[in-house]
Amino acid sequence: MQSITASNYFIHFGQNGYNKLNSFLKEKNYSKIFILVDSNTNEFCLSSFLPVLETENPVEIIEIEAGEETKNIDTCVELWNILIELEGDRKSLIINIGGGVISDIGGFVASTFKRGIDFINIPTTLLAMVDASIGGKNGIDLGNLKNQIGTITNPQMIVVDSNYLSTLPKNEMRSGLAEMLKHGLIFDYQYWNEFKNLEQKNFQDFDQLIHRSVEIKNEIVSQDLTENGIRKALNFGHTIGHAIESYFLVNENKKTLLHGEAIAAGMIIEAFISNKLNLISSEELAEIHYIISDLFEKININVEDIKPIMDLLIHDKKNEYGKVQFALLKNIGHFAINQSAENSLIEEAFHYYLL
Ligand SMILES: NC(=O)c1ccc[n+]([C@@H]2O[C@H](COP(=O)([O-])OP(=O)(O)OC[C@H]3O[C@@H](n4cnc5c(N)ncnc54)[C@H](O)[C@@H]3O)[C@@H](O)[C@H]2O)c1
Ligand SMILES: [Zn+2]
Repeated sequence: MQSITASNYFIHFGQNGYNKLNSFLKEKNYSKIFILVDSNTNEFCLSSFLPVLETENPVEIIEIEAGEETKNIDTCVELWNILIELEGDRKSLIINIGGGVISDIGGFVASTFKRGIDFINIPTTLLAMVDASIGGKNGIDLGNLKNQIGTITNPQMIVVDSNYLSTLPKNEMRSGLAEMLKHGLIFDYQYWNEFKNLEQKNFQDFDQLIHRSVEIKNEIVSQDLTENGIRKALNFGHTIGHAIESYFLVNENKKTLLHGEAIAAGMIIEAFISNKLNLISSEELAEIHYIISDLFEKININVEDIKPIMDLLIHDKKNEYGKVQFALLKNIGHFAINQSAENSLIEEAFHYYLL
């Protein structure tokens, strides 16, 4: 599959990706190569990666616990210390093999160690392939607050190899799928159409879908690395989705949602708002609702949950005029950023989801 040119690096795919990686390593001749994995990617992914890695430079493997709870400053301190102990220097490289947690923390540690060393991302979850590994954002959580500390630093290269997905749990696949649907909705109607008969697709088709999603995310972030403008389009479904995600996280009676499940609901609710603001037609809204509900089960919210979720949303996102800001759809395949909606409309949109 065709490599994709990002800001100042390449995103390569499959076996070709490893060939490019190996020649890149030869050319750069790093003093040391650190491979960062978590407990799962150590078990499931490293055994396929090590045999294809060709380098004469010293290699060290560093493992951290799997999970979002690890994405904090304590883990960074541990990692910086390990890099020092293992004699990492300014000419060292970190290869991040894992999901978004690994690329976020590995990218952050690399971009701060000795004022910044090179890193390469090898994403192993669908979400990391189509979203987290691309775009240069990295970082860690601060207590309960997600992604508060970080830098924007691009990797030297990304290698996307969908073979890693064979061991990824089904529900984790769905988290990435939600972002792929989003890419179609905001940027490419034809791509969105591909999801209408997803169950008939084979592995190769799915590889093509991943490739297109990577292309879309890359195109958007390349135009706006620091999120002053069009990068905000990637927040479609996320304003409501994040509020739902946080509400489920703190509420003992609710089972924690995966990011993609919350975003799927957020996209339906924000599509309704887009429709009421005359940005998409009622037919488009019905189509979005139908396809997303076909792929994602309805989440467990009821009328009593609407107010507390809206409180979280308003508290979180209120702008200076007192209204929540959204990135919405403007016909399927296009977006409209900096849109505000009255609280009454947001509430109506939740009721639409509950119907
Ligand atoms: N930087 C960005 O632009 C950006 C964008 C979106 C999300 N993120 C971040 O990404 C993180 C979520 O990413 P994620 O969903 O990949 O989470 P993750 O890294 O926690 O991976 C999910 C789970 O899958 C396991 N896993 C990974 N690859 C596997 C494989 N091939 N086989 C079996 N198990 C495997 C992991 O160990 C983990 O338990 C969040 O922290 C989020 O903030 C960052
Ligand atoms: Zn997301």
